[in-house]
Amino acid sequence: MLNDLIKKNRSYRRFDQSVPVTTELLREMVEAARLSGSAKNLQPLRYMLFNDPADCAQIFPTLAWAGYMKDWAGPVDGEQPAAYIVQLGDLDLTDDWWCDDGIAAQSMLLTAVEQGFGGCIIGSVQREKLRSILSIPERYKIIQVLALGKPAEKVVIDNVSKNDIKYWRDEKGIHHVPKRSLDDLIIG
Ligand SMILES: Cc1cc2nc3c(=O)[nH]c(=O)nc-3n(C[C@H](O)[C@H](O)[C@H](O)COP(=O)(O)O)c2cc1C
Repeated sequence: MLNDLIKKNRSYRRFDQSVPVTTELLREMVEAARLSGSAKNLQPLRYMLFNDPADCAQIFPTLAWAGYMKDWAGPVDGEQPAAYIVQLGDLDLTDDWWCDDGIAAQSMLLTAVEQGFGGCIIGSVQREKLRSILSIPERYKIIQVLALGKPAEKVVIDNVSKNDIKYWRDEKGIHHVPKRSLDDLIIG
């Protein structure tokens, strides 16, 4: 069911790095993005796919993890993503992709989750460093990066209490994500 998939599609930040993410799956994910909605049907988004460990090792240090968890520096070796999709905007087509990027990211992540994988959208990217590492031409704006792999952490959804929306990790290593209630969201 779609609702179960959406619930399962959490932001995973720790993975079993020994489990590869195939190029086939990465391409299937982009296929889901390709079929998603696009403002003015411009389809300005482009993708770079990486699942080679040497490439992944270069990309990893350009990403920032879990801003609310100040005492966690990000996944350790062995729990790092086994693949990345770098999402780009083609400035030759437009510099305004409305919300195409988010729609496409969700389509891609749902595709991964359906196959037992998962990931995290990383918006906090050292973009110029990444551009240089990957030799990305100026024509393409780096929008965000999907970090991907076989999840190796449990993530649960809690209710927001006292307006505190910060996610956190408990002593058992379970990651908690507070979500506002339906009645808080529907205001009319
Ligand atoms: C546009 C966007 C950018 C994000 N950027 C980051 C990021 O840079 N680093 C990170 O660890 N998580 C990032 N996240 C993940 C959010 O922190 C996560 O969606 C939020 O905590 C809710 O958890 P959930 O995805 O499991 O519902 C991002 C999510 C979105 C949608």
